[in-house]
Amino acid sequence: NKKGFIFDLDGVIVDTAKYHFLAWQKLAKGIGVNFTEAENEQLKGVSRVKSLEKILEWGNKTISEADFMKLMTHKNEDYLTYINDMNEEEILPDVVRVLDFLNEKNQGIALGSASKNARIILQKVSLLDKFKAIVDGNDVVKGKPNPEVFLKGASALLIEPNQCIVFEDSVAGIQAANAANMISIGIGEQDILYEADYVFKDFTEMDVNFLNELIKK
Ligand code: G6P
Ligand code: MG
Repeated sequence: NKKGFIFDLDGVIVDTAKYHFLAWQKLAKGIGVNFTEAENEQLKGVSRVKSLEKILEWGNKTISEADFMKLMTHKNEDYLTYINDMNEEEILPDVVRVLDFLNEKNQGIALGSASKNARIILQKVSLLDKFKAIVDGNDVVKGKPNPEVFLKGASALLIEPNQCIVFEDSVAGIQAANAANMISIGIGEQDILYEADYVFKDFTEMDVNFLNELIKK
């Protein structure tokens, strides 16, 4: 049986939320807006444009289109300085074990991320060759919770959406997987990701039996 396994990147494969936080916080400070870690939580799975819109909204700021573009560019330049220092050590626990297991079982493996930096991050942590398809923020028009990113992942794998399984850490991503008619697996807290079909704290809690069940389903 061949299933499609679609992985989100940020928060599932690597913990880049801390770098997004540092970069957004610096930006917010620069325009006199307070930006908290709780607010950063709400930006998980949210595109770069939407994230800045939310920060401005929370801070009651309106800025020109030109300044908006400038801030976006600065934010990403700043973010990329953190990404540049990443290596294999930042891969979250047991991600490689699960990827290797699924590859050995000849399953379809894709990335489904909102990030436009997905390829460079995968390259930095040396995981590019584990994925058969990569769908990222450069490939989609509608962000999560819209299912577009995962439907494109399924189609790149040539596997029907209802034969796909999504690993996600964000609420928007779980909703996108559900809307795509895929099995949704939350990586994080049950009380936040309650809309998921299954929730695991991290991949160390996901055993071979569970993965085999998903393949057989
Ligand atoms: C992921 C992260 C978000 C981020 C988005 C866009 O979904 O969880 O926090 O805003 O990607 O990332 P990018 O690298 O394109 O700015
Ligand atoms: Mg994520």
